[in-house]
Amino acid sequence: MALSAAIILAAGEGTRMRSSIPKVLHTFAGSTFLRRVMRSVAGLHPDRTAIVVRYQADTVSQAALSYDSDAIIVRQDEIPGTGRAVQCALTELARDGGIEGSVLIAASDMPLLDTATLRTLMDYHESSHDSATLLTANLDDPTGYGRIIRGADGDVLRIVEQKDANSNELAVHEVNTSVYVFDATVLRKAVAGLDSSNAQGEFYLTDAVEAASAYGSVGAVVAPDPLAVEGVNDRVQLSVLFREHNARVCERWMREGVTILDPATTWIEDDVRLNRDCTILPGSFLQGGTVVASGAVVGPYTTLIDAVVDENAVVERSRVEGTHIGASATIGPWTYLRSGNQLGEGSKAGAFVEMKKAHVGRGSKVPHLSYIGDADLGERTNVGGGTITANYDGVHKNHTTIGSDVHVGAGNLFVGPVEVGDDVTTGAGSVVRHDVPDGSMAYSENTQHIVEGWKPAWER
Ligand code: UD1
Ligand code: CA
Repeated sequence: MALSAAIILAAGEGTRMRSSIPKVLHTFAGSTFLRRVMRSVAGLHPDRTAIVVRYQADTVSQAALSYDSDAIIVRQDEIPGTGRAVQCALTELARDGGIEGSVLIAASDMPLLDTATLRTLMDYHESSHDSATLLTANLDDPTGYGRIIRGADGDVLRIVEQKDANSNELAVHEVNTSVYVFDATVLRKAVAGLDSSNAQGEFYLTDAVEAASAYGSVGAVVAPDPLAVEGVNDRVQLSVLFREHNARVCERWMREGVTILDPATTWIEDDVRLNRDCTILPGSFLQGGTVVASGAVVGPYTTLIDAVVDENAVVERSRVEGTHIGASATIGPWTYLRSGNQLGEGSKAGAFVEMKKAHVGRGSKVPHLSYIGDADLGERTNVGGGTITANYDGVHKNHTTIGSDVHVGAGNLFVGPVEVGDDVTTGAGSVVRHDVPDGSMAYSENTQHIVEGWKPAWER
């Protein structure tokens, strides 16, 4: 059975986050809660996806449309509550051609909600022919969640919110995850009669469950993985969930053959790819589309963002963004590689070196205290300590090209645009402003003066 629509609830402020950013736009392992939930829901291929917004509506809808330009944005009015959110969505969807068959509803504060879990719910709903099916979880500590009240036959009678529950109801450990599938016709009727006669004075979507049971049985399926349906309401829950998720990610990589010495201090985002026999040392953050090849060693205390690290390279105590590090290259300690660098096989960017848009050929080395920006270095070239490419004249970014087999003396300054050929040697402290031909030596003099018998003022 096809899914006629998905309704994602994203109108809440997320007061308990105490944030100027709407809760659903907080990030989790590299992408926002909303993006993560939208991606998982998209895995079920609903005909249409409606995103309900209200708090910071423009910001949230802009984000939603950037994730899926076909999303239907629904603006919830001033009436509060998850039930009202669904009423508004149904009105908008009716205007847009109407819906029939199954409708999925999901809150967007569950960063680990995945397509497999949603599929379990859909499959259960389709085989049971119930008028609605809830995704539930059995929690040791159900505090804060709506409790599932089942009848003697196991069917769901209703959901009671924490604040409206009596002591018998509070003792129930099966909770509402805020993920539901409804038959569209039943849903329309069930939300039509909602009111706000409850402890929070809101239109509760949970009340639609009791209403739905008048049109046919309501079932519930327990989520196989409780982590997948854990909602984040505050930053303490965020950190607990993030740590649990990260521990799983690290474990998965270790089982795939990656050495991770300390998973507690190694943070790996979901899109990162690691190859067998690479080693990640403590205090490392692997982010974005980072890829680490086999035999490479990363860390300790290294951040890689969209970095590609080839076989047997070593990156120690460094920050690397948008850079390709060739096989057996050595980076660090304390190296800052900004975007757009290509480092060849066996090359080196040593301690306190910063690079940006630098192409460093195979076997070339920049071992100490240098800035190389907007520059091309050939192969087997060695750059002396303290060398700077002066690439910015205040208006333009200018290029420096240095050939192969070049020996750059210590403390050189290359004033771009400038081109140095192959087999060149430059003297220590040279300021290279003019092109240098192949096979030559270049030096620039600065006159050394001696003032004999000089003393500082306070000693005179
Ligand atoms: C809700 C459920 C509760 C469940 C819990 C699971 C209700 C009444 N309660 O409570 O049974 O155990 O989720 O996490 O539904 N939202 C809107 N419009 C609104 C209010 C909220 O779109 O007017 C959205 C929020 O952005 C959020 C979701 O609905 O994505 C849930 O809202 P939240 O305030 O977190 O509900 P809970 O109190 O956690
Ligand atoms: Ca919640």
